[in-house]
This record gives sequence, C-alpha cells and structure tokens, in this order.
Amino acid sequence: MHSIAALAFLASSCLVMVQSTAVPANLERRSVTKLMIFDCVNDGLGDVCDNMCFGANCQGWGDSFVWDKPSKSTASKRSTKAGCGSGNHCSKAPYGSAYQCDEYPFKSVEESDKGGQVNRCVKSGYNNAQSQVIRNFYNSYAGFKGKGCDKTAPCDFAVVFANAGNIGYCNITPNCKNDGNEYTKDGKVPDPKKREAPTGPVGGYYKLASGDVVYAPTGAEVGAMAYRTVRKNETLYHEYNRNHEYSEHQGYEQYDYMMDNLELAEDVVVAIVDGPQGSASSAMNGTAQNITKRDY
Ligand SMILES: *[C@@H]1O[C@H](CO)[C@@H](O)[C@H](O)[C@H]1NC(C)=O
Ligand SMILES: *[C@@H]1O[C@H](CO)[C@@H](O)[C@H](O)[C@H]1NC(C)=O
Ligand SMILES: *[C@@H]1O[C@H](CO)[C@@H](O)[C@H](O)[C@H]1NC(C)=O
Repeated sequence: MHSIAALAFLASSCLVMVQSTAVPANLERRSVTKLMIFDCVNDGLGDVCDNMCFGANCQGWGDSFVWDKPSKSTASKRSTKAGCGSGNHCSKAPYGSAYQCDEYPFKSVEESDKGGQVNRCVKSGYNNAQSQVIRNFYNSYAGFKGKGCDKTAPCDFAVVFANAGNIGYCNITPNCKNDGNEYTKDGKVPDPKKREAPTGPVGGYYKLASGDVVYAPTGAEVGAMAYRTVRKNETLYHEYNRNHEYSEHQGYEQYDYMMDNLELAEDVVVAIVDGPQGSASSAMNGTAQNITKRDY
C-alpha cells in the first residue's frame, strides 16, 4: 500500500509540475495527516462546496492549510483581502440580504494572509453549515478531545470532499469555467484560457475505513486520519443553519452554542480508488448521478 501511495504521490507531483504554468499558486501538499471532511450533500453546504473546489482546483489554492487561531483583526484583514470585508458585493444585487460572502481559503488559516482568495455569495444557511463543520474540527469538543485540531494552533490539515461527484469544480478533471458567481477582491474570476485550464487529473479519490469515499484535490496518504461532523439531532443542525444571525464582528465562537449537538467522528484513509463510486454509503456514484443538495 505504501508503495502505491508513493507512486500516486509521485504521479501527482509530476502533474503539478506539468500544470505549474496553468494553475497559479500552490497545488502541492505537505504531508498532512488530518483531513477535514465536507459532505457536499448531507452537511447542508449547498454551493459552498463549489467555492472550495473552485479555489482548490481552479485557482491553485490546493487543500492544505494551517489553522493559526487568528485574532479578530487578523481574520478581518484576511476577509478584506478576499473581497469579503464589510459592505462586500454579496449584500448587493443580484445577491442581497439572504447571502453571505464565503471565502476560500478560510479567514482562519495563515495562507489567507497573502490575499487573492476566491469568494462566492452563498445563502447564509450554507455558510453557517460550513462554520459548524470547521468549528467542530478545530475545537474537538467534549468527548472528542485529541481529535481534529484539539483547540491547538498551529494545526495542519487538509480539506476533502464527500458526495461531490456532481460538482464540476470538484472533479478530478475539473471544469474551471466560472459559473458566474466566483469572484476575488478584483471582481469576477475570468475563465481560464484553453492552455491554462487544468488538463490532467487533479487529486484523487480515497476510500475510508467506513467505506465512504472522499475526493482530495491534491491527493491524500493512506493512513491519514479523516474527521466528519456528526449531528446528535439532525433537525436541530439544520435549524441552526437556517436561523443563525451571522456577525462579521465575531469569530467562530459565535457558533459555540451549536457545538453540544455535534460529534467528531474519526475515520482513516485505507485505499486509493478510481472514482467516487464504490462506497458503502450509496449516494456517491459518479458525476452522472443526480444528487439533491439541501436548500435553506
Ligand atoms: C431535535 O431538534 C428539534 C428542533 O429543535 C426538536 O424539536 C426535537 O425535539 C429534537 N429531537 C430530540 C430527539 O431531541
Ligand atoms: C452508478 O449508477 C449507474 C446508474 O444508476 C449504474 O448503472 C452504475 O452501475 C453505478 N455504478 C456503480 C459503480 O455503482
Ligand atoms: C436530475 O434532476 C433534475 C431536476 O430535479 C431532473 O429534471 C432530471 O430529470 C434528473 N436527471 C436524472 C438523470 O435523474
């Protein structure tokens, strides 16, 4: 298994080199042992997954970051660099008060200091869902001490995606045409010129011990720990997402009242697989499948 992993790693390193003129920054991964799972169907993330994959695969941000537990002012500076500062475009037409500005990479990671993050105006409920998942991973509440980031920064992690098979930006051969909602601080992200578009596979699919399959934009290693957010009360989880009034003046602590409802389930990467199918949890069958995302 290790030699296969090593081969896959070599192969993806070569691809990264081939693409280095194509994809801007840092599609290379440090050796990361903790994976934060975003379930693009069941976590209520809506098109927040599209934004993360667009940033990862189409704008060269990759998937590996360092949570540095930033102060409010640092986080706020990062948001401004992402085009998500106060008075951002999401409060204006064609969006409006039901929307929030979602940024990738997150304002909670040090990579965002350099600016140029992507942003997308998403329904507030989707942004709240993403925040619940992230907060739960960083803080590893209650019986989950020692997992995720365990409240301790700096913390290296990588994001991976479950049930993302029908999202073009999350594909192993991503379609990087802007769907009209992908921005940076400078405005709408232009479509890639033909020669710039990623041509080969980006990342890979990985089977976890649970049978679930995740997509990792720059690949993962067998043995890496993967964490998913589990709800004690599913109804309550979605109720929080719908009803939470986001405050841009607060950090993730504004979500703490939701955390008693969450657990952090630990899983582990056991194999590299060919595609999103082959999972015990049926919904993950390739790009052809019509997966319904939850709406808020
Ligand atoms: C789950 O949350 C909903 C919404 O708050 C509540 O009505 C319901 O009673 C809860 N279920 C349980 C089993 O606690
Ligand atoms: C995926 O779904 C299609 C259509 O429902 C089916 O024909 C195919 O066998 C499935 N593939 C796998 C690997 O489950
Ligand atoms: C996918 O969903 C859309 C909208 O719900 C529906 O019109 C279409 O027929 C579905 N396609 C398949 C292959 O099930």
